[in-house]
Amino acid sequence: MNKEVKMNVYRFDPNKDKEGKFQEFTVPVKEGMVVLDAVHYIENNMDPTLGVRWNCKAARCGSCAAEINGKPSLMCKTRVDSLGDKIHVAPMKAFPIVKDLVTDVSRNWEIARKIPEFTPKKGLKEPWQIAEIDVSRSREFRNCIECFLCQDVCHVIREHDKDYIGPRFMVKAASLDTHPLDSINRSKFLHEEGGAGYCNITKCCQSVCPEHIAITDNAIIPEKESIVDSYYDPVTMLFKKIRGKHGQ
Ligand code: SF4
Ligand code: F3S
Ligand code: FES
Repeated sequence: MNKEVKMNVYRFDPNKDKEGKFQEFTVPVKEGMVVLDAVHYIENNMDPTLGVRWNCKAARCGSCAAEINGKPSLMCKTRVDSLGDKIHVAPMKAFPIVKDLVTDVSRNWEIARKIPEFTPKKGLKEPWQIAEIDVSRSREFRNCIECFLCQDVCHVIREHDKDYIGPRFMVKAASLDTHPLDSINRSKFLHEEGGAGYCNITKCCQSVCPEHIAITDNAIIPEKESIVDSYYDPVTMLFKKIRGKHGQ
């Protein structure tokens, strides 16, 4: 184990600076140290003005998302000793910078509000009952911690940010569509407002998810298939009409 590590941390204050730059700090390494520890060491001992957002330090809240050596990652889950003796830490590129490592992810909350909400089937008897086997498909999607690393890595979001809701919200739609008591189909929304057609299945989102959600395989591809069925397969359209699952 190295005794110290060179931390190159991105610095940018939009209220003061024209452009950002990396600043190097030498930080002593301790056993089990994660990148967030090293950033806190800088904040506590070298520069208290360093902007960093975190909350749980346990990979649960999603707020310490950043780009570590170019890879979207959680700072609290990435071990310093897994990265060599020089580490670059930068804010997520897909979102505007508030200060240094802190980004403004509020656009995601706007998208969240647009997803057609859970709509229970009519006439359900109280209390609602769901068989264990019926919740298993959507359980994976509910592990999302809303770190937005998948949104950050998606080239469609980076290049056409207004047009595509992004992988996190394809997961959200899939979690609702696979809910056994939900009554609506979100294909119309995903196709016409969500920009699902922009996703070309690169799977980069899936490769960075700290919860190991199979974003592309289990959420995006089935939702895209459902869109194709809803719009172009007359048999499925008829079946959905008979079942009464309304398109949204
Ligand atoms: Fe983060 Fe994974 Fe949720 Fe995307 S799907 S926001 S990468 S936890
Ligand atoms: Fe983007 Fe993931 Fe599709 S990275 S292009 S949403 S497979
Ligand atoms: Fe909560 Fe890292 S501090 S996920």
